[in-house]
Order: sequence, then C-alpha cells, then structure tokens
Amino acid sequence: MSKHVLIAMAWPYANGSLHLGHVAGLLPSDILARYYRLKGDKVLFVTGSDCHGTPICYKAQEQNKTPQEIADFYHQEFKDSFAKLSFSFDLYGQTTSEEHKKIVQKLFLNLYEENLIYEKEEQQFYCPKCQKFLPDRYIEGQCPKCNSSNARGDQCDDCGALLDPQDLINPQCKLCGTAPELKPTKHLYLKLSAIEKDLKKWLEHTTYWRTNALNFTQQFLAQGLKDRAITRDIDWGVEVPIQGYENKRIYVWFEAVSGYFSMSQIWAKQQGDEDLWKKWWQNKNSFHCYIHGKDNIPFHTIIWPAILMPQKFNLPNQIISSEYLSLEGKQFSTSRNWAVWLPDYLAKYPADALRYYLSINGPENHDADFSWENFTQRFNSELVNNYGNFVHRTLSLIGKYFDHHLPEVKKMSDNSKDLLKNCQKVFEQAGQFLEQGEIMKAIKTIMDLAQQGNQYIDQQAPWRESDENKKAECLSTCAQLIYNLSILFYPFIPQTSEKLHDLLNIQSDQVTWQYSELEAGKNFDKSVPLFEKIDAELVQEEKEKLG
Ligand code: MF3
Ligand code: ZN
Repeated sequence: MSKHVLIAMAWPYANGSLHLGHVAGLLPSDILARYYRLKGDKVLFVTGSDCHGTPICYKAQEQNKTPQEIADFYHQEFKDSFAKLSFSFDLYGQTTSEEHKKIVQKLFLNLYEENLIYEKEEQQFYCPKCQKFLPDRYIEGQCPKCNSSNARGDQCDDCGALLDPQDLINPQCKLCGTAPELKPTKHLYLKLSAIEKDLKKWLEHTTYWRTNALNFTQQFLAQGLKDRAITRDIDWGVEVPIQGYENKRIYVWFEAVSGYFSMSQIWAKQQGDEDLWKKWWQNKNSFHCYIHGKDNIPFHTIIWPAILMPQKFNLPNQIISSEYLSLEGKQFSTSRNWAVWLPDYLAKYPADALRYYLSINGPENHDADFSWENFTQRFNSELVNNYGNFVHRTLSLIGKYFDHHLPEVKKMSDNSKDLLKNCQKVFEQAGQFLEQGEIMKAIKTIMDLAQQGNQYIDQQAPWRESDENKKAECLSTCAQLIYNLSILFYPFIPQTSEKLHDLLNIQSDQVTWQYSELEAGKNFDKSVPLFEKIDAELVQEEKEKLG
C-alpha cells in the first residue's frame, strides 16, 4: 500500500555559502525522497532558504547591503548547488515569500486564539550605543560556571553550559563592546508548559528516531518545559499579527519550522489543487520524516510539534538528526577558512563522488571526518575500480561477443541463480535500512553486492570461456546484476544511475524498487566508463589550500 511521505529537510541559513558539513547533514533527505518514490509512495519533498534572523542582518550591515539582498544572493547560490547535487525537491522556497508569511501568521493567530500565546514583560539586555535589544548570542562575557571569557548569552562554548544572558559576568555587546543595560520589553510567549503532557505522550510513539534526538528530547522534557518568547525586537522577519507589535517580528525559529507546512500549501496551489497538502498534513496514514543537524533537534521535536499539535496537523514521525562532520580532523570554521565550500567542490569534482562518500562515511551515529585522501581513495577504489569496472567489463564483453545484445540463457547454474537471489534480498535489506534511517548500512549492503558481481565475473572469466552457452549465462547474469545495481544505487548516486540507464536503454523514470530483469535480445549502447578517477595529486593541492 502506498503512503504519503513528507520529507522535511532543514532550511539552510541564507547568510553564507554551504560547505561539505552542511551537505552531510542534509543528504539523507534526498536519498530517502528518491527511495520512497522508487517504492511507489507519494513523496512531498520540501524546504528552502531560511532568510530571516539576526545573522543575516549583521552580514548585511557588514557588506553594506540590505538583508533581502544577502538572502537572495545565497538563496540563488543554494539553489544552484542543490541542483548540481541532484537534490530532487518538489519545492525549494524562501521564507521571505509573501505566501509563507501569510501562512505563518495564520498558524500564529490560531495559537493565539487558543490562548496558547500570551503577553509577558521581561528585562532584557539593551545596547545603548547600538540602540537595540541584543539577541542572546550577541552578548558576550565571562562564563559563571568555568570562568572562560568565551561565553555568549545562550551558551559557553568552552564548558558547554547553557546560559541566560543575565548569568554572564561582565556582559558586553558583541558588536561595539559596550556594557548593555537591562530594560523592560514585552513579548509574546508560547505556552509550552500547557502542552508538555501531550508531548510526553507523543514521544512514546516514535519511529526510528536517531538516538541523539530521542535522548536529547527526553532529557529536555524531563527538566520541565518553560514557556518561550516567540517574538523578537528586530525589524527583519515576519510581522506579528497582533496590535502593539508593529516594531517586533516573529521569532525566526517559529517561522522557519513552519516553512515545511507553508511550502506544502504553496506546492499544492502550484499543482492546481489547493487542498492537496491535506493528504500529507491531515491524514492518519501519512509519514513525516525530518532531516537536520543535531543542533536543530529541540526546534523540530519540541517547538514544531507544540505548534502543530493544537491545530491537529500531522506530527513528525521520524527524526534523522546528524552528528557533525569534521574536515581533516578539525572542526569546519568559516573564520579560519577551514572548509571546503560546496560551490568550489562542485566546480571541480563529481556530485556523486561526494554523495557516495557522505553516504558511506556520514556522521550518522557519531561524528565523521572528511579527508581529501580518504575521499579520493574510497572513490577510486570502490566506485571506479569496483562498481564502475564491473559495469564496464560486462557491457564491453556483451558488445564484443554478442554485438551489444543481451544474450539468451538456456540453463542457469546454481552459482548464477544464487547471485541473483541474493540481489533480490538486497532490495529488502537495503530498503529496511533506509527506512530505519541507516544510510551507511544501506549503501554498504549494495556495495557488497557489486563486489560479489566483480568476484563472479573474475571466477567465470567469460573471456576465456569456449562454451557459448556458459559465456551467455555469465554475461547475462552480470547484466541483470548491473541493471539492479543501477536501481539500488539510484537514491545515493542518481547521476551515475541515469548514465547507466542510458547505456542500457532504460528510462530512468520507469524503474521501481524491486528486483527487475531485462529481456533477452535487448540492445545496449557502446560501453563508456561510468567514472573517471580523481587525480591524487590534484587533491593534495586541495589539502594544502586549507587554513
Ligand atoms: N536555518 C537553520 C540552520 O541552518 C535550520 C532551520 S530548519 C527549520 O540550522 F526548520 F527551522 F527551518
Ligand atoms: Zn552595541
């Protein structure tokens, strides 16, 4: 039975270029969207650029541009990069779109009318020189717990303590260094306390959440939920639809998570059926899968469900929150230029090489590392020498001995049958792993199958075989196997699978996630290699460029 699957990928901040660390956390979304589509499910894959929030304002100030210009610039860059990476979004939008704003305001008002949003006045830090209230992370000072002077209003990076700005010793405005003053300001608060019980109940029915998300959320709930301000003293963002709030905006996280919902509605409209989104959001049988980095967990497992629950929309089913990717053993850092920027990578190297590496070596259950050497080595040996070579040998030999036509098989030996039977099983196993969010295990299972194919062709050595029937049996078995590998690998390395489908004269949009066979007599194109090796020396230069 097919189901409605929502793939909700975190919205990247449009305040700077993406690097490989971002891709590592986001890639599972496209893999899963493609997998479920192949399985025949109705997939809605939405996200976009997160365009509001203070970091974008400060970046704009720095560069003498408007926040909108900054957001539009990176939005375009993100769109280009994701297209080159073959991310198969149904809609990639922007939080600055008018439709999004209206839908967010509606969600906000619904909660307000349910008395789940209320007004409260509090003391907050105000910089007299900059003449504005300071966001938590723009207040710096000394940590009250470990005395480090690196603490910010929300957190101390040195000891990890979660802080309130008022906890800081000698607080200073990050922008101008002035000591901020406490000033009263009123805000609207989301009554998380009222929804705590329901959240706890909901948490008993999770499906394949990553352990980091489950642990974090349980601990968070165990401490008791505090109501949270969902407006900010800022002028860049979605207007608060309440009188007296003209100079404030909706908190960026409230608004950004709502983007999954707004994009679904905007997409439905574009399809010419305004109500189509309801099949995903008001349907007991739909399945919602959220993909992001681990720093996003509470926004997706507490705030977002708290917004959805009272309005009776579908809640997240699965949470796939990644750990971090490091680069050559060190944390990615923009300020120290310790990063591989996505546009640079994509200008020089194949998208699938990255998709492969981050699938088989991703930060899934613990942090992972990207090193140029390891990346090149794995690509060259696993994709080029193993999979690519197997495909090329099979197709070249069929060209040579059978004039590019799939030979007919008279009798199958057990050896060949076993290999194809195993291939059938891989569909089940890899599918199961994918549904559990275990991308690494899934792709590993498929790579092992490719390796078995290579061993099989080596053992059978059809180039030395004088019995025509046996030669046909071996090469036909290999051809069936590469056809199935093209399907199995499709969610992970789609550009490669499409290239292989071209060689096999198959329509990519016709394949489905199940063991499939090509008909004898089918005509193939002349074989060309699927991959080119990445030059180890070139990559050495990349390494030297860092830092
Ligand atoms: N912009 C946030 C980040 O890059 C993610 C926002 S996800 C959303 O960490 F759901 F809130 F949009
Ligand atoms: Zn200041």
